[in-house]
Amino acid sequence: MQSLKEGIDKIKKEIEGQAVKNAEQLEQFRIEFLGTKGKLKSLMGEMRNVAKEQKKEAGLLLNEIKQYTEGKFNELQEQFQSKEEGVSESGIDNTLPPLPNETGARHPLSIVQDKMISIFERIGFSVAEGPEIEDDWHNFSALNLPEHHPARDMQDTFYINKTPDWVLRTHTSSVQIRTMEKGTMPIRQVFPGRVYRNETISARAHCFFHQLEGLYIDENVSFADLKQTLYYFVQQMFGKDVKVRFRPSYFPFTEPSAEMDVSCFICDSKGCNVCKHTGWVEILGCGMVHPNVLKNTGIDPEKYSGFAWGMGVDRMTMLMYGINDIRLLSENDIRFLKQFK
Ligand code: DAH
Repeated sequence: MQSLKEGIDKIKKEIEGQAVKNAEQLEQFRIEFLGTKGKLKSLMGEMRNVAKEQKKEAGLLLNEIKQYTEGKFNELQEQFQSKEEGVSESGIDNTLPPLPNETGARHPLSIVQDKMISIFERIGFSVAEGPEIEDDWHNFSALNLPEHHPARDMQDTFYINKTPDWVLRTHTSSVQIRTMEKGTMPIRQVFPGRVYRNETISARAHCFFHQLEGLYIDENVSFADLKQTLYYFVQQMFGKDVKVRFRPSYFPFTEPSAEMDVSCFICDSKGCNVCKHTGWVEILGCGMVHPNVLKNTGIDPEKYSGFAWGMGVDRMTMLMYGINDIRLLSENDIRFLKQFK
């Protein structure tokens, strides 16, 4: 009986000092004290050695220590579980809501450019791209702008010092030449891309911007096809009520050439800052591909004809979203960009 009492006291002391930090330690506790080969079980075995008249007392004491141990086990389990649910061992509070995932947004230029492209894709145009560093031939000469032609001054060019024949392309019309040179007919393609001009940067102009060029070449293509294609485009872009008008213009690579205006959708043609109180906004230059350009790329102008156009994606984006400063489109100010989710 004496050794039983001593055993019970010893176990009690051991249990008092127990701390449990994780599931593994909790399980160790269970095995050590409550397991089938645990310390409590071996104490129970001591009953055999207790005198008959003391068995009742011994049983009570054993029951007590059993309850104490089980109670301690439950307590530790609770403590440990609440730790798991809340602050973890490393002190990190797992119950805090997660930091919001910062998702990016598409750039407004991409949104508008993709919309423009998808409209032309619906009527059979595919997409092609060309290099931003161009040679003189593709950017100028093949487009009917021979050296010293005054029309070269229409666009202030960045030349690349090391190789004077190379320029940063001033327009995506250079991709027309690259496509025509491949000689696969018919051609029905649009060419999106960045272009560069040596301009003073202001709210309305930048030294780089974006264009979407289009080219359609086949037998018997006429100015009526040009008008109808571009009319379809603006209706899809701005709605069925939009009106268009063509003004005669001059580009060396087209003949005849025109600029196209759409009725101002900001003020419903009543007159506003965007349309400079004319009721019209200019959105593109276009024309029938000049026979010299066809010849320069090895296409027979007697057999084939075609039309082309070029429009500014930045300008279109500014119109669509009412953006009044072109610089916003390249400053990467997150406060501006996140408005376009
Ligand atoms: N390349 C001209 C520009 O940057 C725009 C243009 C006008 C493109 C008429 C064309 C066109 O394809 O036919 O100002």
